[in-house]
Amino acid sequence: MSSLLVDNIGELVTNGAGEGPLGIRRNAAVLVEEGRVAWVGPSAYAPAADRRVDAGGAAVLPGFVDSHAHLVFAGDRAAEFAARMAGQPYTGGGIRTTVGATRAATDDELRATVRRLRGEALRQGTTTIEIKSGYGLTVADEARSLRIAGETSTETTFLGAHVVPAEYADRPDDYVGLVCGPMLAAAAPYAKWIDVFCERGAFDVDHARAILACGQAAGLGVRVHANQLGPGPGVQLGVELGAASVDHCTHLSDADVAALVGTAHSDGSGTRTVATLLPGAEFSTRSPYPDARRLLDAGVTVALATDCNPGSSYTSSMPFCVALAVREMRMTPAEAVWAATAGGARALRRDDIGVLTPGARADLVVLDAPSYLHLAYRPGVPLIRKVLLNGVPQ
Ligand code: NIG
Ligand code: FE
Repeated sequence: MSSLLVDNIGELVTNGAGEGPLGIRRNAAVLVEEGRVAWVGPSAYAPAADRRVDAGGAAVLPGFVDSHAHLVFAGDRAAEFAARMAGQPYTGGGIRTTVGATRAATDDELRATVRRLRGEALRQGTTTIEIKSGYGLTVADEARSLRIAGETSTETTFLGAHVVPAEYADRPDDYVGLVCGPMLAAAAPYAKWIDVFCERGAFDVDHARAILACGQAAGLGVRVHANQLGPGPGVQLGVELGAASVDHCTHLSDADVAALVGTAHSDGSGTRTVATLLPGAEFSTRSPYPDARRLLDAGVTVALATDCNPGSSYTSSMPFCVALAVREMRMTPAEAVWAATAGGARALRRDDIGVLTPGARADLVVLDAPSYLHLAYRPGVPLIRKVLLNGVPQ
């Protein structure tokens, strides 16, 4: 059994036992065996190992868990972004542009885009990334999107209910029937989750409930694009269905926050339904940011993710999202780093990632910085020195 020791870690974020909410340990080491964390302790007492990575006094943290990304698409919408920066609002209508380009693309073109974005994300410290379909919107195109997504991640999400495609524009009931019937049947073998864009202009609450319930009956876990562009029923629908995560949460009522609080675990470990905030979308659509403090102060578990997609948030950078969350959403650096690691893991109902404690996957990042604080303090600077994925240096 080959082992690897990462030692001489100035500041280790464990998200487990240790100092403060990030479970920090100083002058620490991590022993990796068989892709798992085997031991965490003081560097001075580290066991011998076959190989060694000297962190040189730098900070080490769990790899980022990006729990919300749309990587299977073709084309880009840079012109739409430029128009927004000149004052046009974001409506979600551009999704259909990407649907057209995606349907016209070959499997290899889609695969190349997923791999390129996955590579970008990995170089920025992301070790787990959820990937949604949702730009195919035919039975065949949704199934192939998920098949291709599954080549890169086990966290795959069927988003056939992203928008009603143009050919069904005047008969949305028929489209919902297609999503719940043949499309779900073709997609389910490749998907772990189901998601719906529950929003004015996309799917109303009845359609969203019907689709999520079908997905649940087919064994998929529930996540919802909720309350992004305006107030709406998405968050409460997600809570009603036991969603792992409700995502965006930009426009919340007191009742929405109360519904999330109502999913709290009895042991005080946060909420069963996570609020996943996607500040890249507000940045790229020049919209007001979600009120993270209101959620955190109410005790709601918060995750941060990129929402990487060609329309509303074309970034694969979790450090960028951390910096936005700190500067624009008044999250503390510790809250933001937790949300981008352990929070993302909670949003995916995973306990083997987002933490560096014995038994966890050895997915970790060595920073080119002495502290996790630098992720927000030095925005836009490539601070990821080294990434270990399943114990393997990348
Ligand atoms: O999460 N809101 C819906 N879906 C994406 C945007 C997709 C697009 O504009 O292409 C989002 O922001
Ligand atoms: Fe999204």
